[in-house]
Amino acid sequence: MKTLGNKKIGVVGVGNMGASILEGVLTRRIATPSSVWVYDKVMNKAESFARRLHVCRASSVSELLNKTDMVLLAMKPQDFASFALEHRSSFRPGQGVISILAGMTTEKIARALGKNMTIVRAMPNLGAKVGQSMTVVCGKNKRALSFAKKLFDGCGKVVTLPEKMLDLVTAISGSGPAYFFNLMELLADFGVKQGLRPEVAEILAVQTGLGAALLAESSQESCAELRQRVTSKKGTTEAALRTLQRGKFKKVFQQALRAAMNRSRELRK
Ligand SMILES: NC(=O)c1ccc[n+]([C@@H]2O[C@H](COP(=O)([O-])OP(=O)(O)OC[C@H]3O[C@@H](n4cnc5c(N)ncnc54)[C@H](OP(=O)(O)O)[C@@H]3O)[C@@H](O)[C@H]2O)c1
Repeated sequence: MKTLGNKKIGVVGVGNMGASILEGVLTRRIATPSSVWVYDKVMNKAESFARRLHVCRASSVSELLNKTDMVLLAMKPQDFASFALEHRSSFRPGQGVISILAGMTTEKIARALGKNMTIVRAMPNLGAKVGQSMTVVCGKNKRALSFAKKLFDGCGKVVTLPEKMLDLVTAISGSGPAYFFNLMELLADFGVKQGLRPEVAEILAVQTGLGAALLAESSQESCAELRQRVTSKKGTTEAALRTLQRGKFKKVFQQALRAAMNRSRELRK
């Protein structure tokens, strides 16, 4: 796995995603603690994170920008406008910026920060917490893109796509973990209704999801082929899948994905 070399990374906002990405990067030794700087509006949060992972804590955004080569913006999208207004003067011309802010386009970020920023947009997901994010990156600057790819390699898998695909990506992999949670929830729920203890039902559901994901990942066969392989004629799985088909599961699921994609487009405006 490629490291960030002697480049320094600064992270603004060590909440769920900022902290998860950094933990992955540090655990996989993609960056050394002394090359990581963090800043959060809530000083205690940055301080306890810095103490726990032995990284450097910046006391201001300008210190973070001065000490690092690339800055990862990891605050909520609704906090970005005031952040940009307050700190745009601290950014260097051409400063490298990686943004994971959902719905915040490169154009909007560039307009808010000014000074010809080198911007990479990334859409990770919650899998980052366990080093299994699916992250899509997009950007025009090759060096910044390569930096971002190395960074997100530290917390899962990375694919590069054009920015126009990000609403679709948000619907599939950005929001995706919740669809799988929901499916496991439904499996466990049925188990409980049929008499299983909740903790047993939960294990059955989660371990099944984990096994299926690992199989799909390690197999040469597609998900469709794997499904066909476990669906014997007139068997139990076929009975379940036929019922889903009759209930127009595929159509409803496609409508759900379209709703997520449309919502992502709305948020972008
Ligand atoms: N969660 C996901 O699955 C997911 C997936 C893909 C992308 N994203 C994107 O990731 C970003 C972060 O999401 P999250 O779930 O990690 O949010 P979060 O847990 O709320 O973390 C954001 C952190 O940034 C801090 N913050 C807010 N304004 C700041 C400022 N001006 N300067 C420094 N720090 C500031 C917040 O402090 P306060 O708590 O005090 O506000 C919080 O500690 C979002 O833009 C989201 O769109 C999230």
